[in-house]
Amino acid sequence: MRSPRDFFQPLALGAPHPLQDIPVRPSRMIHFFDPSNPRMAEKAPGIASKVDILLGNMEDAVSIDNKEAAREGFIKIARDNNFGDTQLWTRVNSLDSPWFLDDVTRIVTEVGDKVDVIMLPKVQGAWDIHYVDQLIAQLEARAGLQRPILLHCILETALGVANVEEIANASPRIQGMSLGPADLAASRRMKTTRVGGGHPGYVVRNDPDPSNPEAARGTHQQDLWHYTIARMVDACVGVGALPFYGPFGAIDDPLACEDQFRNAFLMGCVGAWSLHPNQIDIAKNVFSPPADEVIWAKRVLEALPDGSGVSMVDGKMQDDASWKQCKVMVDLARLIADKDPQRKALYGF
Ligand code: GLV
Ligand code: MG
Repeated sequence: MRSPRDFFQPLALGAPHPLQDIPVRPSRMIHFFDPSNPRMAEKAPGIASKVDILLGNMEDAVSIDNKEAAREGFIKIARDNNFGDTQLWTRVNSLDSPWFLDDVTRIVTEVGDKVDVIMLPKVQGAWDIHYVDQLIAQLEARAGLQRPILLHCILETALGVANVEEIANASPRIQGMSLGPADLAASRRMKTTRVGGGHPGYVVRNDPDPSNPEAARGTHQQDLWHYTIARMVDACVGVGALPFYGPFGAIDDPLACEDQFRNAFLMGCVGAWSLHPNQIDIAKNVFSPPADEVIWAKRVLEALPDGSGVSMVDGKMQDDASWKQCKVMVDLARLIADKDPQRKALYGF
């Protein structure tokens, strides 16, 4: 068993010390682009100013023929641009692929000072993290990096979900996780071909009306992803890492996308992926707290100035616990307000 004293020691001589706390910055959307696509690569620096996180994708959706072009494209974009307060991430290929080693080696040693987070797909268990953790430490040392690169895991295999707490606890480098509903559905042999969102077949049906047993019985669609998101949120928050909803594939259904994002927001996620420019504003709206909730939460904080005791606000009981709920809302609003002057005004800061 590893000594707890070593947990925050670098895993290679000369590598930066692991962070004690995961930085919390506005992270409402992780915007994906394909660096092998010259049109997208050209637009990436412009899009960076509109998003919280810009991610150069190397994995699925990049064809085998374009894997190397994606890597080269990402390195060039990272090297040639300064993204200001927008985080720069990359999704590398999976650990068992022929590209992973070169993806990580080239990116960490050539543009490691520009990259905040490496997203790791198809993580199965703590052993995956232990390998990548030490490899990155060796590469950070070689590159002389001063700041550790963090790791974000995609929860997208049945085994990964079974091991989610172990993954979250495997390294101080774990920045967070995203739900990957497409790979996860395939891995679990779920019978849906949709990328995230609901399914009309996954319902509960109303009881028959005893006075009219033949009458049509309504149904209520249920959320296929509730269980996994809940596990992911608890595993992440338990170690101070950040949970995200992943992709919503129906670009032509912004309303359902908004619903899926909002469910994740309400359950504790900080953001979601945007796969198309249309999804950027959906994520921005959903993952910024609603102004009326923020105004209300500020009133509750004022009613209990030291966060203890009991008070009635508009007929609703408030105490230490509801004060904490409201503080979550106000803290997030402040974080967003610092970056978003329009919302700052709406929140009344
Ligand atoms: C994302 O990578 C997914 O598989 O849903
Ligand atoms: Mg996937």
